[in-house]
Amino acid sequence: MKIFVDTAQIEEIRKVKEWGILDGVTTNPTLLSKTGKPWKEAALEILKEIPDKPVSLEVIATDFEGMLKEARELAKMGDNVVIKIPFTNEGVKAVQALKAEGIKTNVTLVFSPLQALIAGKAGATYVSPFIGRVDDIAHGGIEVLEEIVQIYTIYDIETEIIAASIRHVDHVKQCALLGVDIATIPFKVIEQMFKHPLTDIGLKKFLEDAKKANITIL
Ligand code: G3P
Repeated sequence: MKIFVDTAQIEEIRKVKEWGILDGVTTNPTLLSKTGKPWKEAALEILKEIPDKPVSLEVIATDFEGMLKEARELAKMGDNVVIKIPFTNEGVKAVQALKAEGIKTNVTLVFSPLQALIAGKAGATYVSPFIGRVDDIAHGGIEVLEEIVQIYTIYDIETEIIAASIRHVDHVKQCALLGVDIATIPFKVIEQMFKHPLTDIGLKKFLEDAKKANITIL
């Protein structure tokens, strides 16, 4: 499973990159607004930091022509730009037009298997079902994801599934068990994926015993 970081904070992106586990970045207007920088400056910084990995940038327009114009502008910012398009009728039309122009898309704000089926039929490069926000309304986000994986497998749909709106490590584990292509994960949750109390306890004991046994390697 590929790991994307769901953030626009360059320091967080750099850390995950240094750990050697970064496969891409997803942003949205909310995440960009949190950087405190002009959006374009923040976006360009990210694109340059990982020039060989996909970075999703979202359109603001909601009409077909407007989305196309914005997508073309965003696509000029880097070879690694992926255009995030909201799942609407206009958005689905825009995905098909952008595909014809060779521009990659990530269909966002997807909450149901049928929306994901349509995004796949439209030829989206990626589809982003929002897991946590489905949980928030007392439905099962992981169940929605499971059904999307099932439908995509049955019909051999090439669109890659990005599990988004991930809130905790168990979401990540469930994504991996379902075999989703990508999980886009908040930085804090990626940090938690490294942690286990038994690792800390075990390491402490090994270091104490190394001292007792006078083990020095270099
Ligand atoms: O990037 C889109 C998605 O991951 C947002 O997550 O936590 O705002 O529901 P959240």
